[in-house]
Amino acid sequence: MTYVVTEQCIRCKYMDCVSVCPVDCFYAGETMLVIHPDECIDCGVCEPECPADAIRPDTDPSVQDWLALNAAYAAQWPNITEKGEPPADADDWKGKPGKRDLLTDTPAA
Ligand code: SF4
Ligand code: F3S
Repeated sequence: MTYVVTEQCIRCKYMDCVSVCPVDCFYAGETMLVIHPDECIDCGVCEPECPADAIRPDTDPSVQDWLALNAAYAAQWPNITEKGEPPADADDWKGKPGKRDLLTDTPAA
């Protein structure tokens, strides 16, 4: 089992999750983070830390497509171990529906 980053992270990318993960299993893209499913120890501490409510356990049936996406991008994007500066307009994107199309393949700089 693992936790999964979902659509609500896109363009918000607050990174509070990174600060609390005991095993540093977050990976960073330009517009969102993902969790490496083979590295997550399922501790659950990141879920309540996310201001955008973007993190879910993989036992949630509605996140199965996001689980596959997290696994794919965790293999491509760089590991992130410290919270950076969130996007200046992060709050404008918080809770917005239909952000899936704004996800890019680009790794974080
Ligand atoms: Fe890290 Fe725990 Fe969240 Fe998994 S559940 S990503 S180990 S903080
Ligand atoms: Fe994204 Fe929430 Fe972490 S917005 S970067 S999952 S704190």
